[in-house]
Formats: sequence, C-alpha cells, structure tokens
Amino acid sequence: MKKLFEINADYQPESFEFTKASQKKAADIIALYPKGRQQSAVMPLLDLAQRQMGEEGAKAEPPHGGWIPRAAMDHIGDMLGMPHIKVYEVATFYSMYNLAPVGKHLVQICTTTPCWLCGSDEIVQASKKHLGIGMGETTKDGKFTLVEVECLGACVNAPMVQINDDYYEDLTSESMKELLGTLAEDMKPTIGSQKGRKASMALSGPTTLEKQAKKAGVA
Ligand code: FES
Repeated sequence: MKKLFEINADYQPESFEFTKASQKKAADIIALYPKGRQQSAVMPLLDLAQRQMGEEGAKAEPPHGGWIPRAAMDHIGDMLGMPHIKVYEVATFYSMYNLAPVGKHLVQICTTTPCWLCGSDEIVQASKKHLGIGMGETTKDGKFTLVEVECLGACVNAPMVQINDDYYEDLTSESMKELLGTLAEDMKPTIGSQKGRKASMALSGPTTLEKQAKKAGVA
C-alpha cells in the first residue's frame, strides 16, 4: 500500500525529543559505527523513534501505535549531521516505518501468492467485517489499523499476519476474529501458528530428525 507522508498534516507535532532512556539507547547505537560513519545509524534511530511513539501512544486516550513524525526525522537528521531530506528518503523507502499515526495494533495482512492461495482473501474479509474498517483505515477507538502487505517470509505457515512485532500464522477466518478479539481486550494472544504447529514442521509432527526434535522439546 502507498505510504502516507504528509509533512504539513494537522497531526504532525511541532517538535520531537527522545526521552532520557531513548537518548541513552541512541548514544549506544551511534557508538556502534566507525568514526565518520555515524549516519549509518539513521535506520535504528528511526526505529527507536517509532518505538518511543508507540510506547507513549499505548498510554494515550485514544491509543495509537508507533509512527515517526516529521519532527522526529528532522531531529535524527540534526543528531547525525544529515540533511533532513536524506532522512525522509530512508524513512519513505522502507515499509517498516509508519509516517502517519496508526492504531495501537497495526494489522499487516500478507496477500502475496502463497498466502492468497491458502486463503488470505478470507482473512482480509473477516478482519474488515470484524473491525468495521477498510484497508488503510483505523478503528474509531484507535486500537486497530488494517493494511495489506507483500510477503513477510512466513509462507510455509500461510496465511499469516504481522501485528506490531509478532507473527500469527496458519490462520482461518475464525482464528483471525478470535485474535482480534483477544487484542481488543488488551490480552496477549499466542504468537506463531494458530493450529499449534511448532515452527514450520508438519501439523502431524516431525517427519524427519524425530529424535533431534524430541531432544529439543519441540515434538
Ligand atoms: S506469501 Fe505470505 S508470508 Fe510469504
């Protein structure tokens, strides 16, 4: 989906500061890079800003999820001695950065071929109906934003969605609705396969390396 980036939108705050805890993390991140290469820290600093916004947003009323205001990008550019436009170029390129407010739970539904073949259309329909919103929209209570994404690398357990940092796999319309219901109650659903499969092994259990799987406690 096309990424929203409106630098003069009403929701853009005037300023952005890292908290004390984030400042310490930022200093540690920047120190990882060789002298003169500190600008390479731009990506983890953008992620740090997004996570800070998400932590603050989880306590707000209505809540919101992690996103990166333009003021945060400008602040990061100033910290790293980079032109602001260079920071915008990075932030607008990668889909993991949200450049407009999102719901507390950002529901990214994979609809690429393997997930589509395994029923992602039903997951999309069930999610839209359950939440009463369309793709790219946020529920009125600020809890959920729905977006469609390309392959998230978990095709073997398709269909799947990513919600914030977690993957939920082997979904059906029913398990998707349950998942959204659990999150709406501010409870933590089981991450990974919703059919109880361990990692990507067969649903019936290991078919090879059985002894090793037993020893590792996954069978
Ligand atoms: S196609 Fe959905 S995770 Fe790869």
